[in-house]
Parts: sequence; C-alpha cells; structure tokens
Amino acid sequence: MSDTVKYLLDESQIPKYWYNIMADLPKPPPAVLHPGTLQPIGPDDLAPLFPMSLIAQEVSQEREIEIPQPAREIFRQWRPSPLFRARRLEKALGTPARIYYKYEGVSPAGSHKPNTAVPQAFYNKEAGVRKITTETGAGQWGSSLAFAGSLFGLDIQVFMVKVSYNQKPYRRALMETYGARCVASPSTETQSGRAILEKDPNSNGSLGIAISEAVEVAAQRDDTKYALGSVLNHVLMHQTIIGQEAVKQLEMANDYPDVVVGCTGGGSNFAGIAFPFIGAQLRGGRKVRIVAVEPAACPSLTRGKYAYDFGDTGHLTPLVKMHTLGSTFMPPGFHAGGLRYHGMGPLVSHVKELGLIDAVAYQQTECFAAGVTFARAEGIVPAPEANHAVKGAIDEALKCKQEGVSRAILFNLCGHGHLDMQAYMDYFAGKLVDQHYDEKELAMALAGLPSVKEAA
Ligand SMILES: Cc1ncc(COP(=O)(O)O)c(C=O)c1O
Repeated sequence: MSDTVKYLLDESQIPKYWYNIMADLPKPPPAVLHPGTLQPIGPDDLAPLFPMSLIAQEVSQEREIEIPQPAREIFRQWRPSPLFRARRLEKALGTPARIYYKYEGVSPAGSHKPNTAVPQAFYNKEAGVRKITTETGAGQWGSSLAFAGSLFGLDIQVFMVKVSYNQKPYRRALMETYGARCVASPSTETQSGRAILEKDPNSNGSLGIAISEAVEVAAQRDDTKYALGSVLNHVLMHQTIIGQEAVKQLEMANDYPDVVVGCTGGGSNFAGIAFPFIGAQLRGGRKVRIVAVEPAACPSLTRGKYAYDFGDTGHLTPLVKMHTLGSTFMPPGFHAGGLRYHGMGPLVSHVKELGLIDAVAYQQTECFAAGVTFARAEGIVPAPEANHAVKGAIDEALKCKQEGVSRAILFNLCGHGHLDMQAYMDYFAGKLVDQHYDEKELAMALAGLPSVKEAA
C-alpha cells in the first residue's frame, strides 16, 4: 500500500478553464432583481461597479471559461496547491477514514482568496480601471486584493470590519505593505458609514456595512470599480481551480471522495472545492456527500431564510435570493471574521435548495479545539475560518470510526492562521466564548426583508 503524503501536480497542470456549475444545474437559480423595479437586472445595472468581462462571467451558462494567460502566469507561484493525505491526523483519531486536505495557505496572502483577486485585478486593469474598493472581514480577502493590485498597478482601498481591524493589526500591515489603504468600517468616509456611526458610535461593523461603504465609493467615481471576495457567481467560479486540481490529485492517489467538506462565509472556498464534484455527479458521476460548515453564531444556511435580500446593510446592492439572516443582522464579534456575513452565495443557496449539499453549524470553541488537534498532528495551523472545515472533517472521520467503515474525506484547508494567533491565544486563555446569535435581533432583521412577490 502506498504511503504517499502529498500529491503534487506540475505547473503545466494548472487548470486552463474555470468550471461554471450553471451549465449542469437541473434548474437555473432565481434572477437577480433591481431593488427599485423588482425586475431582473441587466449588465448595464452592474456596469458602474464591475468591468464587463466579469459581468459576462456572472451570467454565463458556458461550462468552461478560459482563465486569462496573465492570471495563470501569476498562479504559477503557488499553484497547483498541494493535496495532502492527513496520515498523522488519521492515526491520532484512530479512524479508518482516508482524510485528504487541499491546502490553499501556500498562496502569498495565505488563503484561497488570491485565486479570484488576481483575475479580478487583471480584468479591471484591462478595462482601464485605476482604483478598486472592497470590504474585508478577516483581512484575508483585503490582503489578497492588495497583493493583486500591487501586481497590476491598481490603487486598492479596503474597508475592514472594525472588530477585525482591531483584532488583526498584522493583516492591516500586510495590506499596507502591498500598497493598499485600509480603513476601519464603519468609517466617516462614506454616507453609509456615517449613518451607522450616528446610530451606534461603538458599532463593531459587519461585512454588510463594509460592502455598503466600498460600493458607495466605487459608484461615485468613473475610474473606480468595486470587487467582492465571495458570494457572486464569478467569484465562486474562480475558485473552482481548487476542486479541479483535487480531482487530478485524487486520481494520483487512486481514490475518490465519499465526503467533501468546506467552510462557508459567502461560499467561495466551499464552491471551489465542491462544485467540480457536484458537476461530475450531475453529469452522471458518483454521488458524493457534500458538507458546508458554518459558525453557529452566524448560521445563514442552517437557520436563515431562503429569500430575496440585499447583499449589504446600506441597501445599495441588487436583491439576490439566498439564505439570509437579514441584511441588518449584526453577527457577534467572533474570531472567524471571514464567516460573519449575513447571507450565503446565491449559487450555494441554490444547490442547498436542490438537495445537493448538506449544511452543519458549529460553535467556535469546538472549531478551535479541532484546529489544535489538526495542528498538533499535521503541523499546519489553520485559519479560524478553516477550523470549521477541520471540525467537519474530523466529525466525519469519527463517524467512520464508530461505524467501522473507511470513507475518503476531502476537505479544503482554505488558509493558514499565522496572522490569527491572537485568536489562538484567546482560546488557550479560555477567553473565547461560544456565542449564540440573538433570536430577537434575528427576528427583527428577518422582519425587515424586502417584500418580493415570486411566481409559484
Ligand atoms: C481563510 C478564509 N476562509 C474562508 C473565508 C470565507 O469566505 P468564503 O466562504 O468565500 O470562502 C474567508 C473570508 O474572508 C477566509 O479568510
């Protein structure tokens, strides 16, 4: 029996195409609506915010979309990323499961986010854009776009959720090192930020608020566009290089996953690892159990409502149908900042509604415990967001142990936690508490959902 630990592909095997799950879905996802007319939006509605090439990708039905050569050249630095067989973790758990993880922490920013930051920066540069605004939760996305901006000579302004801005000063420093400007959100630089601060001067911020600020700045200037690090169809599609590489690497291992696990904030790293396997299944391939793992303190997929909602708190975005906790929902300031979004990517929500994926929610301390077990066996310290996927994979492996069966479990280790060590220190000091969302606040946020009549 082979005892291989890492499965590596050559640079020439970096995928040439992104996989677009739209082509294989049995039913298309609901249309994106204009918040004023409640009619489906067209490309012109999105043109103030995104270059046309990305808008075309957002609505494309093509199964494969070519990855531009300049982006593939940059990907050579860290792609294809390694696939590891977690042999020491398997031993530590005493499980007959075969655990594999795809490690995205090898990118310059330390996560999967550069997989979309680089092509987004490329398309903006190609369209003559000078500056890009964005939001960031944990700072992984902001630092990835800052990195990509430095490569393409673009000005980057990042609105960073205030609680993370304070928790993660090194992420901020990383963005500044790449030449970006990082502002704590809510800020006084925008109308949306000032409105929030007027109501609550001590607001911790949220991804929904930071999105409003970034969109507001981009919409006001001709030379400025906006970029989102998750949620949108094209962003999820850019991440499918993860799953496509994993398919090839598992072929090298002569294996195929029974279970695929990913953590979900807006859904991009999860879609990246899962959609190629869901697509293969939809085209007649083997059925795979796909598990999305989210925080119990911000449980959009497991407790949210599948409804039309705004993508931001200031209501500047179109309406998308997704699992949502309500656009005014303020998640508690827990440490997995990248998972504090009130909604879920519409495509992930849609595949959940189609019964193609399962979702579970975990508390943060059990996720940190799983991350520590993983680090002590495999050596890599996962990002707090990734700990949710680690916990999901460990639970699946322990189920195998209980049942005495050997299943292949693949999970996405979407980032390392080297700039999140304060969270680990807080965990070891017993300062991390499990936070439940406030039922009353949730009910209020859901009561404020826009009213959209849909055809049966
Ligand atoms: C390391 C890491 N994982 C996961 C996420 C969640 O985003 P997504 O669901 O789009 O992968 C983030 C977001 O910032 C992140 O930084």
